[in-house]
Amino acid sequence: MRQCRKEIKKPALVWPPIWFMAVFTLFTLLPTAMVRADDKSRVQRGLEIAPVPLNLKGKNRALVGLGSYIVNAQGGCNDCHTNPPYAAGGNPFEGQPKQINAAHYLAGGTAFGPVISRNITPDERGLPAGLTFKQFERLIRTGIDEDENRLLQIMPWPVYQDMTTRDLKAVYEYLRSIPHAEPGP
Ligand code: HEC
Repeated sequence: MRQCRKEIKKPALVWPPIWFMAVFTLFTLLPTAMVRADDKSRVQRGLEIAPVPLNLKGKNRALVGLGSYIVNAQGGCNDCHTNPPYAAGGNPFEGQPKQINAAHYLAGGTAFGPVISRNITPDERGLPAGLTFKQFERLIRTGIDEDENRLLQIMPWPVYQDMTTRDLKAVYEYLRSIPHAEPGP
């Protein structure tokens, strides 16, 4: 009887840690791996959907791809910052196959009443909208335009302000990599 008990006890002691590890792996490591894979596919998708040639020299490619994904597939920046957002014959709202207005991409110039959307392409120093990352982050997080000392009125900064710093860095890195453009007519 005693021996028998011992035999039962032993596996009972060995198995719980193994089960624990299996469950730990399934619920902790696998989802992490899936998020990483998903992050990778967002980077890939971002690089594929960028409507303009990207200058990746001296840039972090993964951040640029993620930024493109956020700007082009989620943020809707093009709708307000490109005038007009779509090329002639490429307006999806008129049932045409989508073609972004690459020539004036993110160069601003759309009027919302008295407020005009800004040019957020890189300036001659390579800074998007002429802003350093610190200034860009402060603007998106607070909505305060420091030049004019007033709150941005149209920009959905109350939505964008909750992005992680990494995502904001990605958006900024992407904006750094697009060509400079001037607003459409
Ligand atoms: C609903 C329209 C709209 C959308 C969407 C939008 N913006 Fe804007 N944005 C504006 C307007 C209009 C301004 C001018 C300031 C204001 O809102 O009062 C502006 C200003 C800015 C500025 C300030 C530039 C400066 O020189 O001070 C930055 C940077 C900016 N937008 C980046 C973005 C990014 C990045 C996205 C996408 C993630 C985005 N915007 C999406 C309308 C929009």
